[in-house]
Amino acid sequence: MKSISVKHLSYSYVRESEDVVNDVSFDIEEGTYVTIVGPNGSGKSTLARLLIGLLKKNSGDIFILDKELNKENINSIRKDVGIIFQNPDNQFIGATVEDDIAFGLENRQVGREEMRDIVKSFSEKVGMSSFLKSEPSNLSGGQKQRVAIAGVLALNPKILIMDEATSMLDPKGKVETLQLINEIRKENPSLTVVSITHDIEEAYLSDQVIVLKDGKVIASGKPEEIFKDEKSLEEMHLTVPFLYKVKNRMKELGYDVKNINSLEEAVDELCR
Ligand SMILES: Nc1ncnc2c1ncn2[C@@H]1O[C@H](COP(=O)(O)OP(=O)(O)OP(=O)(O)O)[C@@H](O)[C@H]1O
Ligand SMILES: [Mg+2]
Repeated sequence: MKSISVKHLSYSYVRESEDVVNDVSFDIEEGTYVTIVGPNGSGKSTLARLLIGLLKKNSGDIFILDKELNKENINSIRKDVGIIFQNPDNQFIGATVEDDIAFGLENRQVGREEMRDIVKSFSEKVGMSSFLKSEPSNLSGGQKQRVAIAGVLALNPKILIMDEATSMLDPKGKVETLQLINEIRKENPSLTVVSITHDIEEAYLSDQVIVLKDGKVIASGKPEEIFKDEKSLEEMHLTVPFLYKVKNRMKELGYDVKNINSLEEAVDELCR
C-alpha cells in the first residue's frame, strides 16, 4: 500500500508569486524510510506542512494512507500522522515533561494506568525518564527534542514526519534517535518514516531519497542511484557521503560491499 501519494502539488505563500512547491509528485510505500533532501529554501518544510494540512495546497492532490487529504478527512488523517519539527520550543504544551508526553494520549482518552506505562516506556526510550517532573522550558534544546519525539511516538503513528528533527541533537543524541526510530520500525514494520534532513549519511541509509530544488523534485530513487554521480550531487548542494566514498573505493579494491551499511561494518570488513 502507498502511505503517501502526492500528485502535481503546488503551493505559494503569496498569491500570484512563484510556487515554492511547484508541481511536486511522488509516492511513498508503507513501511519505508524516506529522506527528503535539498538546499535551504527548496520547499522541504513547506511540503511537510502541506502533508499534514497545516497549509492549504493551491493545486494538486495529497493522499495519506489511501485517503484524500481534505476537510472531511483531515482529523482522521492527523491521528495517523506524527510530526516533529526542528525547533522543539513550539511543540510544548504541558507543565511538566510527563504532562507533555501524556498530552496526546489524554486527548485520546487513554486510561490512567496505561498512560503512565506508555509515558514511562517512551521517556526511557529517549533517555528522559529522570526528567519527568521537570518543566520543559528548563530543558536544553536537545532534551526538549527528545521529549517531543517521545510524545509523538507514544501516539503510535502510522506515518512519522521529521523536519530536521535531529539537527539540534549532539552526534550521540542523533545516532540514538535514529536507532530508536529503527527499533520502533522493527517492532512496527508498517510505520512509514519521512525524514527531512541535511544529514547525508542518514539519507544514504534510507530506502528512498527525494531531492527537492527550487520547489521541484529533481531526483527520486534509491540512495545508490541518487548518490552515484558526484557532479550532480554538487548541483544539489549535497556532498558525497563519506560511507559512500569508502564503499566505492573498497569496491574498486575488490571487496564485496553489498552488506555494508555503516562505517563500523566497513572497518570490520577491512580488518577481517
Ligand atoms: N511563512 C512564509 N511566508 C512566506 N514565504 C515563506 C514562508 N515560509 C517559507 N517561505 C519561503 O518558501 C520557500 C521554501 O521555504 P521552506 O521553509 O519550505 O524551505 P526548506 O527547504 O525547508 O529550507 P531549509 O533547509 O532552510 O529548512 C523559501 O523561499 C522561503 O523563503
Ligand atoms: Mg525547512
